[in-house]
Amino acid sequence: MNWDPRRLAMLQEMGLTAWAPRDAAPGEAPAQEPAAEAPTAPLAAPVAVPVAALARRPGGVDQMDWPALREAVAHCTACKLCSGRRNTVFGVGNERADWMIVGEAPGEQEDLKGEPFVGQAGKLLDNMLRAVGLTRGDAPPERQVFIANVLKCRPPHNRNPEPEEVAQCEPFLKRQVELVRPRIILAMGRFAVQSLLQTNDAIGKLRGRLHQYHGVPVVVTYHPAYLLRNLPDKAKGWEDLCLALQTLEGR
Ligand code: URA
Repeated sequence: MNWDPRRLAMLQEMGLTAWAPRDAAPGEAPAQEPAAEAPTAPLAAPVAVPVAALARRPGGVDQMDWPALREAVAHCTACKLCSGRRNTVFGVGNERADWMIVGEAPGEQEDLKGEPFVGQAGKLLDNMLRAVGLTRGDAPPERQVFIANVLKCRPPHNRNPEPEEVAQCEPFLKRQVELVRPRIILAMGRFAVQSLLQTNDAIGKLRGRLHQYHGVPVVVTYHPAYLLRNLPDKAKGWEDLCLALQTLEGR
């Protein structure tokens, strides 16, 4: 890793210093899993999706191209979240991106703009991405990421996604991954991790090694909103980003 001035500035933006030894990063949080992230909520037991609801999600999602998928998400009424949304939040970035970032669900700002991660957590995410030479803005596929959420509609009052909502939305995310064909997925936060990896394990237990989603390597990391509340853990977010970077460089 080259510590050029721009990258150093970005690390500073993240509250990190480049010279900190890995095993004693400044403000390193205690080894114990932070309360906000653990224990994880029970993994949704397989959800029986009501037949009436299924009728409202178009069939054949697994065959759709980008325009059809966008259209299907925009008009989806498969769960109750459709009644409160101002916009669906499909995703943003390069449709052939090497990197895919998966978050949880739109919040208020995202619902207003129809774009993922545009609030405070999004600013931190953009800074983290910039620190490793990535962007959501126009760039070639090796530099421009694709960002999507598990849920495409905002849960009211930013409550946690419900199992049925996750189950209804899951085919959309799966198809997005199939179409993007990323070389790496960064799963941010517990709902992204639960949905992609089908595990109940805490993020702290899953970090630091590679997982797989339909053949794509997955790196697990904390949600940027969590990092904003737990500043010392930003160092761990940086480590996770470096693991993803090294994974790609080694391929
Ligand atoms: N948090 C998420 O997980 N996704 C967003 O789009 C915004 C906040």
